[in-house]
Amino acid sequence: MKTQNLIKIVTVSTVGILFSTALNASSTYATKMTDLMSKDGRTVGTLTPGTKLDVIKKSGKKTKVRVSGWSAFGAETVIFKQVGKRIILGILDESIISKVKKGKSKTDEFESTWNQSSFTGWVKTSNLNNSQEKIWNKADTLFKQRCGGCHQPHPAHEFTANQWPNIVKAMKDRAGLTSDDQWLLTKFMQNHAKDMK
Ligand code: HEC
Repeated sequence: MKTQNLIKIVTVSTVGILFSTALNASSTYATKMTDLMSKDGRTVGTLTPGTKLDVIKKSGKKTKVRVSGWSAFGAETVIFKQVGKRIILGILDESIISKVKKGKSKTDEFESTWNQSSFTGWVKTSNLNNSQEKIWNKADTLFKQRCGGCHQPHPAHEFTANQWPNIVKAMKDRAGLTSDDQWLLTKFMQNHAKDMK
């Protein structure tokens, strides 16, 4: 094979790889309650444990990420995973609400309007993990250690995603959960709830 042809093949396939990487922006997950920061380092929100994020770029010890979900009309500071489910992905500061990118809207069974919403910001790379499974495994260990001492453990699929936040809240002190534990367990139970198959 002529060298020139070989170079052509290598170039074409390299461009192909770069292009496909750009198309499938990689995903990562917040491992715990994580500050979302503006470019200048100001905290503009909080992401909850297990929340899926698109990686936009990395710079030093920080990663620029995008969080995408739905917000309900009148409560724009909270980004939920999906319409009608109280699964919180992130809570944003009032001051940056105008920077939230809005997509299509939907009306739920209670006539509330929801908007597709996304927001980009910076987080500490040390608060991210590319495996959501690892984060859920940690939550499952917490569940096994703390939730079966007084009664049979009630697994995630016994209740709905909207029931779990109040249950975990009610058990928080009994199970000696920190507020970070409470969020991790709530997100884990909700994502494996009986209406989330
Ligand atoms: C110190 C004891 C104790 C621990 C630890 C504990 N619970 Fe409970 N749990 C109770 C008691 C007592 C009740 C009875 C109802 C009540 O008083 O709320 C209960 C009730 C519940 C119920 C309600 C069942 C129903 O049918 O409505 C759920 C669900 C539950 N617990 C989940 C959990 C989870 C999840 C954890 C771990 C985070 C946990 N519990 C840890 C004492 C405990």
